[in-house]
Amino acid sequence: MKTTAVAPANLAVVKYWGARDLSRGIPHHPSISLTMSRCRSRCTVEVRGEGEDQVLRSDPQGELRPAGDAFAAPVRRQVERLRQAADHGPPLRIATHNTFPTAAGLASSASGFAALTLAVGRAFGLDLSPAELSIWARRSGSGSAARSALGGYVEWPSAGSEHMEGPARQLAPATHWDLRDLVAVADEGAKAVSSREGHRRAESSPHFRTRLEVVPGRLERARTAIRERDLGCLGEVLEREAVEVHLIAMSSRPPAFYWSPATLRVIEAVRDLRAAESVAAYFSIDAGPNVHVLCRPEAVKRVERHLEGLTGIERVIRDRVGPGPRVVEEGHLL
Ligand code: PMV
Repeated sequence: MKTTAVAPANLAVVKYWGARDLSRGIPHHPSISLTMSRCRSRCTVEVRGEGEDQVLRSDPQGELRPAGDAFAAPVRRQVERLRQAADHGPPLRIATHNTFPTAAGLASSASGFAALTLAVGRAFGLDLSPAELSIWARRSGSGSAARSALGGYVEWPSAGSEHMEGPARQLAPATHWDLRDLVAVADEGAKAVSSREGHRRAESSPHFRTRLEVVPGRLERARTAIRERDLGCLGEVLEREAVEVHLIAMSSRPPAFYWSPATLRVIEAVRDLRAAESVAAYFSIDAGPNVHVLCRPEAVKRVERHLEGLTGIERVIRDRVGPGPRVVEEGHLL
């Protein structure tokens, strides 16, 4: 028996950086994200008669290979957590594939754990609602996976959640506002400092305390901007968050530098587009050198041409705000 799930990556507008409880993915404060559409993970699980769980992942050529320990160990732990919760937990063969660069700061762990949790849950007979999926995906340790459980515009945890342990909630569906995300890929390789390690170091930055003071106002502005479809306001929050999270990363002990020269070139290009050509485009960067550029549909061609011409940009992924994860009947990896 095979079950396949697909789940989207997400881009944080108000970011999660630094954790209250890192092993369980519990944040200090809520975060808000846009669910992506083309950047996603596919996970197929197949029930085995006996033996241990087997973890496979596709290589850059699309061939399935046994995953190395760094990838397989957290996957096995997540499967074990779900097995404990289910009445029925047979051994599994698990295969995953990402449509975009893995571990390069583009939320592949968020989409990967959301897809894995949905597929394994189904194979074990746990019919997870979106809220349950959000909580289970977050338990993987990748907190942002909680947001990949829902489509559109998402806040995690939802307001009023006890001790930050609650699920994500949808602020608005993807159809509420057609925003485009052009991802300028500066480096497809895995980042040197994992986001887990980045979270661990965050509190050693002298700027972390200030961040906790400014985030509530940012959350409020981001919610309003989404409700009113105000790109100028959303873009301002997006860029401030991107810069400040990296300010904290760069001033942590030891510091983590995720940017490359190409990252700065994209930032400069986006600011030029706005200043010289009045194109409403705004940048964001998660834990890696690659840059998301948010704009309206009519600006896509102009922005894409500008980004593709920059030295050090390998390619541009055209993405948009899209729906949440689902179990699919076709396209099994095994
Ligand atoms: O969920 P994690 O542990 O992979 O951390 C995500 C960190 C950022 O992508 C930089 C920010 C975020 O909120 O997604």
